[in-house]
Amino acid sequence: MPQRPYIVGNWKMHGTRAMLSEARTIDRAAQRHMKVEVAIAPPYTLIHPVHREAEQIAVGAQDCHDQESGAYTGDISAAMIADAGGKFVILGHSERRDAHSEKDAKICAKADAALDAGLRIILCCGESEAVRDAGRAISHVKKQLNASLPDNIENAAERLTVAYEPIWAIGTGKTAGLDDIAEMHAEIRKLLVDRFGDETGPDIRILYGGSVKPENAGEILGLPEVGGALVGGASLTADSFMGIAMAAGDAVEA
Ligand code: 13P
Repeated sequence: MPQRPYIVGNWKMHGTRAMLSEARTIDRAAQRHMKVEVAIAPPYTLIHPVHREAEQIAVGAQDCHDQESGAYTGDISAAMIADAGGKFVILGHSERRDAHSEKDAKICAKADAALDAGLRIILCCGESEAVRDAGRAISHVKKQLNASLPDNIENAAERLTVAYEPIWAIGTGKTAGLDDIAEMHAEIRKLLVDRFGDETGPDIRILYGGSVKPENAGEILGLPEVGGALVGGASLTADSFMGIAMAAGDAVEA
């Protein structure tokens, strides 16, 4: 069964308790747009407060450790996220791959830990501008994804989401061309069918991320194999974030 479009806000390192009113507004608006599944990943410090405010939207984290507990100063485990009310975790974001030198194997271990803790996962992949210019975007993303995905995911259509985020489109105002997005999503779909089979592979949602805003969301979300969006900057205000969610709802109806 086709799933609802999934619109996820990645607040990155933005937000103090002053942002709770924005989360509340997003939640109330999401209750009026049930055709779309809306979620936000605020900083760790806001997971529990947003969870307490939210009646409709899911709240999640932007990373987790691959161990359940231990002497890992400054880290947060998947079990802790679940305990705070988190329902999902974003893993392998390019900002973590870059600034924290996260490699595919580590991301795969984190994905296993998150799934064990009962969280859903959003696994990110994407190429740099240099890789795209060299004509290696598709092979790069497929290799990255293959190595980051755990082998066995029970109920993968429900618990796994893939997010394609070209690095050069993140926070730059540039979006990938519609043909390039469609081509990459079709390739990712093939990989998911190879890995998870004909029954499950077609139902795993693939999100696009990179400068998505209300003005471009309709055309991006109308593309085949685009099952939603992972939104950074435009998720920080209820107005722009829900503008994207509404465009997603319209795109599936069209
Ligand atoms: P922007 O929407 O700000 O480009 O960020 C995208 C992103 O990195 C979401 O994870």
